[in-house]
This record gives sequence, structure tokens and C-alpha cells, in this order.
Amino acid sequence: MGREFVDIFDGWADSYEASVSGKDPEYRDVFEGYDSILNEVVNRVSGISVVEFGTGTGNLTAKLVEKDFSVIGIEPNEKMREMTAERFPKREIIDGDLLQFEIGKSHVDSIVSSFVFHHLTDEEKGMALKLYSALLKENGKVVFADTAFITEEAKQDQIKKERSRNFHNVADDLEREYYTTIPILTKLFEEAGFQAHFSKMNDYVWIMDATKK
Ligand SMILES: C[S@@+](CC[C@H](N)C(=O)[O-])C[C@H]1O[C@@H](n2cnc3c(N)ncnc32)[C@H](O)[C@@H]1O
Repeated sequence: MGREFVDIFDGWADSYEASVSGKDPEYRDVFEGYDSILNEVVNRVSGISVVEFGTGTGNLTAKLVEKDFSVIGIEPNEKMREMTAERFPKREIIDGDLLQFEIGKSHVDSIVSSFVFHHLTDEEKGMALKLYSALLKENGKVVFADTAFITEEAKQDQIKKERSRNFHNVADDLEREYYTTIPILTKLFEEAGFQAHFSKMNDYVWIMDATKK
């Protein structure tokens, strides 16, 4: 459950840095302002103890480490996990995913991820947020950066736009994975006991900044 897209990253791991730095024209708009997006996530983290899901090559992890957060990285793709672990040999980088993970500690202040939450269906997103709510204390935070759309119509318009400029990989991705809408996310965060705010970062990505009530 929730791991159906993990193998895609076997093929993407080696060229992932090129994609996020804008060298792949199809993904340029998705990753526009990538560095500022990751900084924005880190700036919204509270406390000391942070769990990060889907570390990928470790770019968000690097920013958390730089700011001295105590971070546990959870990454289901072996190749990606090894890339993060090689970059941060002293940090705990473990196998797990957004729904199934075992961390040795009970105290977590913040839960973060970038470009990851869309791997869960909306139903799974709701289940995950309830798990995080149980793990966090009052005022604990979930800070995610990910693609979402203001409405389903806006999403369909974006798919049409990408097809019209022959960006079929990104259009297929939008149709294959579980990119949702801001109203649905608002409801899911509320139902899990969070107060959530959303900020648009580019044509695709929003920061989801949620505080446990
Ligand atoms: C687009 S990359 C993002 C990597 C990194 N967070 C970044 O901002 O560059 C998505 C990552 O999520 C991981 N992933 C896929 N499914 C996942 C799941 N169900 N739970 C956690 N991580 C998942 C992938 O293996 C991949 O490393």
C-alpha cells in the first residue's frame, strides 16, 4: 500500500539531480524554485526531532542537517536510500514509507517531506495524517511540499497544457499518480486534527503547513 511508484525511482535516481536543477525541460516547471521550496519547508519546521519521508537523493535532509535538526530519514527505494545514507553516514536513514515506518523514538516534533505525498491515494493520505497526528504532540507540525491543484478542473487543464507542448511524460505522471486538490487536502488535514495553511510556490507545488490542534 502506497509503494506502487517506488520502482520508478530505480530508473530516475541517477538523473534526479539534473531534473531538479531544471535540465529536463518536461519537469522544469514542476521543480521551478526547487531550492527555495526546500528552504521554505525547513523554515516552517518546529522543535528538534524531525522525521522526513522520501529523502530521495537527500536534498531536503541536507538542509535539515545544516540547521542542526535531529533528523530520521525514511525512504522505501533502496537506491535512493543508499544515496542519502552515503551523504549522511551519521544519520539514521531507514527503510519505510509514508504509512509503514518504525522509528525507535516516541517523541517527534515535526514531520516533513518534499515531492512525496502524492504517492498515496486520498484515502491513504487521510490514514497517514491520522498516524502523524497520533505521533505528534499539541502544536507539532506536518510540513509538506508537493504538487496539488486548486480544483480538479485546474489539474485537467494542466494535463492538456503539457500534452499540447508534447510533454507526455509529465502529463502521464499527472494521470498515473495521486495528485489531489487543496479543498480535499484541507478536509483531510482537518479530519486528522490539524489546522493547515497552503501557499503556492509555482504552477505545481504548494507548501502544506499544518499544526496539530
Ligand atoms: C520525487 S522524489 C523526492 C525526493 C526528495 N524529497 C526531493 O525533494 O528531492 C520522491 C521520493 O519519494 C519516495 N517514495 C515513493 N513512494 C513513497 C512512499 N509511499 N513513502 C515514502 N516515500 C516514497 C521515492 O522513492 C523518492 O525517493
